[in-house]
Amino acid sequence: MKYNSHLLWRMLFFISAVWLITDFIEAGTADCKNAELSDLNHQVKRFSQCFLEMLPDDKRTEINSLAWSLQQVLDRLREVQGKACKAFMPKNCSVPEAPKNGGLVCVSIDSVHYCKPMCNQGYDFGFLRRSRVYEKCGASTDYSWTTQLVGGNRLADCISSPIAVSGVKSAYFPTHMCCQQTIANATAESEQIEIFLRELAEAEKDISQKREMAIDCILCGN
Ligand SMILES: *[C@@H]1O[C@H](CO)[C@@H](O)[C@H](O)[C@H]1NC(C)=O
Ligand SMILES: *[C@@H]1O[C@H](CO)[C@@H](O)[C@H](O)[C@H]1NC(C)=O
Repeated sequence: MKYNSHLLWRMLFFISAVWLITDFIEAGTADCKNAELSDLNHQVKRFSQCFLEMLPDDKRTEINSLAWSLQQVLDRLREVQGKACKAFMPKNCSVPEAPKNGGLVCVSIDSVHYCKPMCNQGYDFGFLRRSRVYEKCGASTDYSWTTQLVGGNRLADCISSPIAVSGVKSAYFPTHMCCQQTIANATAESEQIEIFLRELAEAEKDISQKREMAIDCILCGN
């Protein structure tokens, strides 16, 4: 009984925190500096652990409501993530679309934009791209993205597959480190960017001196 009321209290606290954050994102002008993201993050982790231990029958509606709130917050956060990455993206080139179940590691150097499609574990590219690590957009491509796909900004597809053979080894996120997990971890993110910068320097001889000018970002498909 004691545990139940404790759980309920925490749930109520959490729902109000979620609504608060939703309101902040909605309002745009709200006091975002004081949004305690690390507290919320901690609370979410503790909370999911509680539910793994016990899922009370009488709280079904509340749990569904919580799931729905979180879904909405997640949709907003995904939008915000996309915007953060798109901010540096090409003016003359269109913003590329990240593959679902994967992402794009993108680097811009000297007004040329390079994006390397990557797939999550359990997915493989729809087309063979072993000799095609990245796509690019700049003056030399007439400001359109090189791509194997018809229809503009989609650079690659990641389709469900037990084996990953269509791309080079580095074009797959490591096991237990999908695109979203990678960008949630600064070390893992810069590892992927470093790998791509090395590949780029090898393929495009003229950029190796300009590496310091590189602006980078990883865009995940939802
Ligand atoms: C955009 O395109 C114009 C015309 O083609 C060109 O003069 C300009 O340098 C380009 N800007 C960038 C940032 O690439
Ligand atoms: C972050 O990424 C690094 C490098 O891939 C990894 O060693 C570390 O365990 C990750 N940290 C977390 C909290 O997942």
